[in-house]
Amino acid sequence: MRKISLIGTGYVGLVTGACLAEIGHQVRCLDIDEQKIYNLSKGTIPFYEPGLEDLVKENLENERLLFTTNPSFAFHEADVIYIAVGTPANEDGSSNLEYIFQAANNIATYATGNVIVVTKSTVPVGTNERIREIITMSGLKAEVVSNPEFLREGQAINDTFRGDRIVIGSDNQRAAAIVEEINKPFHVKVIHTDLRSAEMIKYASNAFLATKISFINEISTICEKLGANIEDVAYGMGLDSRIGTQFLKAGIGYGGSCFPKDTKSLVQIAGNVKHKFDLLEAVINVNNKQQVKLVEQALGRFENLQGLNVALLGLSFKPNTDDVRESASIVLANRLIGEGANVAAYDPVAIEKAKSVLPREVHFTKEIAEVLHLADMAIIVTDWDEIKRLPLSIYENMMRTPVIYDGRNCYSIEAVKQHRIEYHSIGRRTVMNLPKKAMVH
Ligand code: UDX
Repeated sequence: MRKISLIGTGYVGLVTGACLAEIGHQVRCLDIDEQKIYNLSKGTIPFYEPGLEDLVKENLENERLLFTTNPSFAFHEADVIYIAVGTPANEDGSSNLEYIFQAANNIATYATGNVIVVTKSTVPVGTNERIREIITMSGLKAEVVSNPEFLREGQAINDTFRGDRIVIGSDNQRAAAIVEEINKPFHVKVIHTDLRSAEMIKYASNAFLATKISFINEISTICEKLGANIEDVAYGMGLDSRIGTQFLKAGIGYGGSCFPKDTKSLVQIAGNVKHKFDLLEAVINVNNKQQVKLVEQALGRFENLQGLNVALLGLSFKPNTDDVRESASIVLANRLIGEGANVAAYDPVAIEKAKSVLPREVHFTKEIAEVLHLADMAIIVTDWDEIKRLPLSIYENMMRTPVIYDGRNCYSIEAVKQHRIEYHSIGRRTVMNLPKKAMVH
């Protein structure tokens, strides 16, 4: 058992803190947000993540986890300090390291002994060396370890306990061995690298996964034009074990707090060493186009969208999370409102978060029936179970013109053909099955 202190109770910090407590460590989580720390001390989580609230409550009760705004108290007796603060994007796409350096300064000021600093935050290559410099300048002896997270929102606890690998990057063997020992109870394969390689593994992994998604989205557009079916194509490709089936699901483009930010940041990182990362720039451009593709198609289908009732189904960037960061729903809602449409949006959990980033003209509801009632068109943004399970007869019966743009291929073409609907999806044939009089709006 180790006494661990952890800076930052955002998504990564909270999941990491709760999971480290769960495997037996004594964890003190530090944050500057007093209200958040108060709520967390009562077991209230500021975002939706399956299983996390129970884990936090359980470890609060057994006193392995506690929350504080006091750095002296947080660092007291801790020989290992994790940094898990945010690294939001600057205007130019580079990472804003303000919170990282604040954390390093905090350690320099309040830590009392020599420390091992473990960086969970995604930081540009070379940042951990700067963290070490800041702390050692204060007279403390510090070793740094880069230990990037690979957590998927909605599955973060499972990913912590059953991840594919734990990357431990350090130039100091003792520090690396201690971090390996901390993680031992997870029983996940560990690899050791130098600091810079560990930092790079995180960016390269996310950039590669984003590349897979943009690649399959490009193939899906070509499939649409050639009359091929993207699902069969992706399956046939993925069976080649060198390619793999995962992250080959064509859709409305990737969103979230990681891929959009990390891809842009890696382009910047490469640019800083005078390398133009052409491939990754193309991946980003393809994704930007993919997010608005369905509205572009709708503009071709209807003469204009002025006064049309549009149902937006799903707001979060993927199911099982209330996170709307970089979700296609944001660009879609803005574009639709800009085109003069009336937009009603459904989501089972993300409405509160969405209200602060979507245009205020959008009408929000947790009732699918309410958004579909007399709608002229529906756009499926997120493949929530609630949406995938929705019988097609509901669209058929409730919408004024049942024209569906499915950004997640939630329905099989065979099922769609049984209904009087017009159905556009990603990388598959369009089904035009509307009664004649409903065809023209
Ligand atoms: C991602 C990485 O998976 C994780 O390892 C990293 O540490 C953080 O970023 P997350 O952002 O939670 O996790 O979501 P993920 O499940 O990877 O999906 C990202 C986006 O890609 C979503 O918008 C999703 O809908 C989209 N996606 C994913 C596709 O469009 N097709 C796919 O095949 C897979």
